[in-house]
Amino acid sequence: MSDERLRAIVLVGGLGTRLRPITYTVPKQLIPLAGQPVLYHVLDLLPRNVEEATLACGYKAEAIEAYLTAHPHRVKTRVVRESQPLGTGGAMRNAASGASDPFFLLNGDVISGIDLTQMLAFHREKGAFGTMSLAEVEDPQPFGVAVLDGEERITRFVEKPPRAEAPSRWINAGVTIWSREVLEQIPDRVPLSFESEVMGSVLSKGIYGFCLRSFWEDAGTPAGILHAQRLLFDHPRKDRLAARSQLEGAQVLPPVAIGRGCHADGAVVGRYVTLGQEVRLGQGARVEDSILMDGVEVGPGARIQGSIVGPGQSIPSGTVLEGRCVGSTPEGVS
Ligand code: GTP
Repeated sequence: MSDERLRAIVLVGGLGTRLRPITYTVPKQLIPLAGQPVLYHVLDLLPRNVEEATLACGYKAEAIEAYLTAHPHRVKTRVVRESQPLGTGGAMRNAASGASDPFFLLNGDVISGIDLTQMLAFHREKGAFGTMSLAEVEDPQPFGVAVLDGEERITRFVEKPPRAEAPSRWINAGVTIWSREVLEQIPDRVPLSFESEVMGSVLSKGIYGFCLRSFWEDAGTPAGILHAQRLLFDHPRKDRLAARSQLEGAQVLPPVAIGRGCHADGAVVGRYVTLGQEVRLGQGARVEDSILMDGVEVGPGARIQGSIVGPGQSIPSGTVLEGRCVGSTPEGVS
């Protein structure tokens, strides 16, 4: 089985509304965390025996395709586009041509240290129809919540229950393995949510829960993105080159990831900061626990903390940004 070639589907077509205004110009999957886009951290999870990942794209597909062409990932990728948002189930079905048996299905915004080789071994050991990775969280309300029996089989799955009614704190971590047969349960070209509209009908076929012991975060919100970045900096992958951490003219407090062509003039950068390319920091500026995307200019004395600043934005001198997302909206800058 070790030379078996498998395939993966990665869902990357959502609108990313919780990350607006940044996602008006940049799809969520291209926001850089610890020096590389969210999507690349997701692709890094795929084991070496995955021969191809199909990216189910919709919103801003062309930006994702262009980035992948300019910066190929070690995993071969194929882009499949949707002409209308198909939801998680419809997108999975739409991207399914050539799917292996079994196949991996990943949300394009999951940041984790999950070992997919171990998860696949668990899937086979259980003789599972499907295996869902599960993360334990304080507040399960925004997620799909699973209940397991003593054999780790999922006996109940409730999508986004009210907090008081959540039957457990183990939630769908966004990485699953499926028997190819699952695709027969999903109608073609119909928008639908896999979690709300399909999961219930396949539970009886034997879906198991793989409880995560590694770090995990849903990089779907500003707080989630910044937490995911801290986790990534604290758990660097051994198979990846460390990001650049030099910035002439700045006092650097690691960990940081500095893009090409950045300039600083007596600024302080770190900890937990990503600067994209050609970022300029004025005298006495201070940036911490933040992401500044390509071409951002920060005026002298500005202080940026816990914030995400979209491409090309100018932050005037003396500004204090805390817990903010700054980017262009269809109406202007917000
Ligand atoms: P929000 O609008 O902030 O909820 O973000 P989102 O649109 O990304 O939705 P969500 O975080 O629930 O999506 C989980 C994963 O599924 C993400 O990786 C999305 O990119 C992906 N996704 C969501 N809806 C679609 C869709 O209609 N088509 C495709 N191809 N992917 C989707």
